[in-house]
Amino acid sequence: MIAPVREGHALPPSAAAPALAVRDVTKTYGATVALNAASFSVLPGEVHALLGENGAGKSTLVKLLSGLIQPGRGRIELFGLAARLSRPADAQRLGVATAFQELTLVPDLTVADNMLLPRAPAGLLGQLRRREGERLVVAHFADLGLDSIDPRAEIADLDLALRQKIEIARALFRRPRILLLDEPTSTLSGHDIDWLGAQIARQRAAGVTIVFISHRLREVRRFCDRLTVLRNGSSIGTEAVGDVRDDDVIRMIIGRSLASAFPPRPAVRPAGGAPLLRATGLAASGKLRDGSFALHRGEILGIAGLQDMGQQELFLACFGMVPLTAGSLEVDGQRTVLASPRDAVRDAIGISLVPEERKTEGLFLHMTGRFNVSLPVVHRFARHGIIDTSAEDRAVAAVLERTEVDLRALHTPADAFSGGNQQKLVIAKWLLAGSRILLLFDPTRGVDVGTKHQIYLLMRAFADAGGAILFHSTEIPELVGMSDRVAVMYQGQIVQELTGDAIEEEAIMRAALGEAAAVPAGTGA
Ligand SMILES: Nc1ncnc2c1ncn2[C@@H]1O[C@H](COP(=O)(O)OP(=O)(O)O)[C@@H](O)[C@H]1O
Ligand SMILES: [Mg+2]
Repeated sequence: MIAPVREGHALPPSAAAPALAVRDVTKTYGATVALNAASFSVLPGEVHALLGENGAGKSTLVKLLSGLIQPGRGRIELFGLAARLSRPADAQRLGVATAFQELTLVPDLTVADNMLLPRAPAGLLGQLRRREGERLVVAHFADLGLDSIDPRAEIADLDLALRQKIEIARALFRRPRILLLDEPTSTLSGHDIDWLGAQIARQRAAGVTIVFISHRLREVRRFCDRLTVLRNGSSIGTEAVGDVRDDDVIRMIIGRSLASAFPPRPAVRPAGGAPLLRATGLAASGKLRDGSFALHRGEILGIAGLQDMGQQELFLACFGMVPLTAGSLEVDGQRTVLASPRDAVRDAIGISLVPEERKTEGLFLHMTGRFNVSLPVVHRFARHGIIDTSAEDRAVAAVLERTEVDLRALHTPADAFSGGNQQKLVIAKWLLAGSRILLLFDPTRGVDVGTKHQIYLLMRAFADAGGAILFHSTEIPELVGMSDRVAVMYQGQIVQELTGDAIEEEAIMRAALGEAAAVPAGTGA
């Protein structure tokens, strides 16, 4: 199972060797080469970022190191010893624990049962041990500052961020020597990211070796010592985080430099007339108290705000998903009541939402790309009650080409696609439906830089063609780069609206912190 590879070496292997080394590892799936002679190594006690576009092979590497899959060629060494990881138990025994990108918690089991898997005790004696196990889980959560989680809650009842934290807590429960975190922050924001940063710092101080995968360079800079970039299954290089600029890293990731991350704004300002969508004094139970804006054809209106300042409710209200307690909506100057999303997507209205949780709300993951993309308009392809699938294929293929999604998506279940491609499937769906107003809620979260760039181009093209976009992002530079105007929310209200040169990070941040002079809710008129 484990054999020394440094025979005759003077030092004990653990003193000199990397904690983790991947040497010339190749892994293929049929014709797909997921890893192509990839190599990298991580020093003991280091926090090492693994970067790369969606599909670069990061998760494949994590799965290999976790014993879920085996390499076709190449070697893995742990603390200087060749490791054969034939099954997850092998990796666990050698001190490797993983928080997987596709969370592996069992939805219909309790938090405690998931924590105790795969050795959840059974039987009468098991009952006693279960109680003991639960006690350990409670103590562990308290230690991690997760006291508020009820160990008897069912996973299915918890939101995605909470599940992500439990996935991480479970990996830590095993007291790993090597901790693998596969895109943990793609479902986290704000305080939860700070929480993770604190956990990483603590583990690092205790000598744990950490591999951290994220698309956000800011986090990589905050948490990590060194970084390795993968591209097309090959390792491109390893650098100390302090030695490289963002531009250098982006060039390593995509193999070229982006001339400009954001497409140019149109020179002419959008024409006047009735806005495509006008919100006046929207309020909904929860966080939204006073949302007013006007969204014109050809325009991208950014909605900024710190976490939970009412953005979610604002977007959901514009899609008929939460009832209004006050205020009104107008589409094309006509007062409009959206009782449900069905009302919003009607041809005459043409509003679509790309939601925060695309995995649970935007897509049916086990269904094909064709099914997902044509879902809202599948009736268009029906003749005498039978779906003309070749017409459907042609129409879906056309929007997949526009969004640059591989045509294999037509017949492949959505869950086989990377996060970025899933997001583009959701966008393709609304393009096919002919939506006029897109509500994009943090559409680039967890999406790699190359795909982000494509999404930016799609957004601008959509607006240039006469559509209008309400756009929320947790990344302020993205709002600055993409928006024609930015409305900033604070405590459920739009407190400031910025246009032109006034759209800059600092001004947005100041308003988001509630420091803006109280400005009457902008109507953009
Ligand atoms: N089980 C699988 N079957 C077929 N192809 C796969 C499988 N898992 C991953 N791939 C492919 O391998 C490549 C690398 O995927 P992955 O490691 O998930 O990338 P990343 O995590 O960097 O986004 C992609 O092209 C992906 O489609
Ligand atoms: Mg991945």
